[in-house]
Amino acid sequence: MNKKSVLVSGGAGYIGSHTAVELIAAGYDVVIADNLSNSDMSGVEGVRAITGVDVPFVNVDCCDREAFAELFAKYDFDSVIHFAAFKAVGESVADPMKYYHNNLLSFINIVELMLASGKHNIVFSSSATVYGEADELPVTEATERKPATSAYGNTKQMCEDILRDSVAAYPQLKGIALRYFNPIGAHPSALIGELPRGVPQNLVPYITQTAAGVRECLSIFGDDYPTPDGSCLRDYIDIVDLAKAHVAAIDRMVEDKNKERYEIFNVGTGRAVSVFELVNTFERVNNLKLNYKVAPRRAGDVVAVWADTTLANNELGWHAERSLDETLKSAWEWEKRVRNIK
Ligand code: UD1
Repeated sequence: MNKKSVLVSGGAGYIGSHTAVELIAAGYDVVIADNLSNSDMSGVEGVRAITGVDVPFVNVDCCDREAFAELFAKYDFDSVIHFAAFKAVGESVADPMKYYHNNLLSFINIVELMLASGKHNIVFSSSATVYGEADELPVTEATERKPATSAYGNTKQMCEDILRDSVAAYPQLKGIALRYFNPIGAHPSALIGELPRGVPQNLVPYITQTAAGVRECLSIFGDDYPTPDGSCLRDYIDIVDLAKAHVAAIDRMVEDKNKERYEIFNVGTGRAVSVFELVNTFERVNNLKLNYKVAPRRAGDVVAVWADTTLANNELGWHAERSLDETLKSAWEWEKRVRNIK
């Protein structure tokens, strides 16, 4: 079993492609599996261009058990990072079975195929969404999870539980769930970044598309929250920093440094940033004016959530490094490249 080889499911997507780059930089071989349902080959090509490595890509749906089993038989890897999942909160409320089918079945297939083929290490892409409207801030990994308010959020909790129970029952497995806060920004090369299809649901792509003239006006959802400036507080984590947390998680399991066989880490900066602060910072660092207006609150938004990152800092030896200024510059550089703006 090749300990220095990692299968990255969903590796053509935003977080997956950045993680593939950092894994390769750290000396891992990478295989990317993706069905391109919410991405395209530009992510894979970007990874190849940045690293100079002809990374193998397999177009496969992780829910297709037979096709996925072929990939497991063909490639020699010992670790899997599972990104491949649907992630639109609103859509998951409107069509929950789409989310339960895709997000659960793909993960079940991965765990079962790992067991059948003697593979060991799995990193699962979880989310700060599991904390809901938390009782304490910042949230630690011990902060209680709240009942999910969307099928999307529920699949994150259920997959965490599938991993926890599988690791407890099958001695061959080790697992790490990384709870991401709000990933933003792009690779400094501007060769990979976030490319949402249709109208962006998340704040930063909406901002960059508004700056690029693709969207007319950013709506700031609520200025009457009980926060210092009335807008929601989040923990925005740079995408390259987030990618590096995955490398640290894989290193930890490959090098047998994990304290427990199943572990959870928050991946954030530890800093709460409001929507207004984010918009103002974007304007300042990129020297432009953004067209925005205050709009009503968005249903389902939590007021505030940010991470206590002590555990990831101490145990993974990982820290968020890139400043918000740099990250928001990189987001704009990427959008300009995509839109051919000089
Ligand atoms: C959202 C999801 C979360 C998911 C994450 C994945 C919700 C309620 N939560 O997180 O479960 O894990 O995406 O990426 O959908 N905002 C605006 N205008 C916009 C867009 C956003 O003001 O056009 C505000 C939001 O109200 C929020 C902040 O920006 O305060 C961040 O929003 P977003 O980027 O959608 O992330 P989350 O809602 O934190």
